[in-house]
Amino acid sequence: MSQYIEVMTTEELAEGEMRLVEVDGHKIVVARIDGAFYAADAHCPHLHGNLWKGTLEGTVVTCPLHHSKFDLTDGHVVTWTDFKGAVRTMAGMVRHARPLRVYETIVDGGDLYVGPQKEPPA
Ligand code: FES
Repeated sequence: MSQYIEVMTTEELAEGEMRLVEVDGHKIVVARIDGAFYAADAHCPHLHGNLWKGTLEGTVVTCPLHHSKFDLTDGHVVTWTDFKGAVRTMAGMVRHARPLRVYETIVDGGDLYVGPQKEPPA
């Protein structure tokens, strides 16, 4: 997305809630946390779990499939899967940790807009 696109009114998203929206043909999850709005790819960068069906703790979303955790502020990986030991090592070789793509948001006149992708974390 190169421009900001209206996705809903701010009143439609309760505090601590996530919602799936479609923006310019992309599935995006939007979240409202402590009054701020966040937007990210709706599918987990591990194996495409549905992040909007996951859980939120502060700004950290947990994937419902293998419990990778991502911070919605910049998409950085908090935890890559809940695999342990050798399985974790093997899984990391097949699909190494990668951040979640996150997007700019703005609120204007009570409407929430999702915009360009933010810079990935360093
Ligand atoms: S698909 Fe999300 S952690 Fe595996």
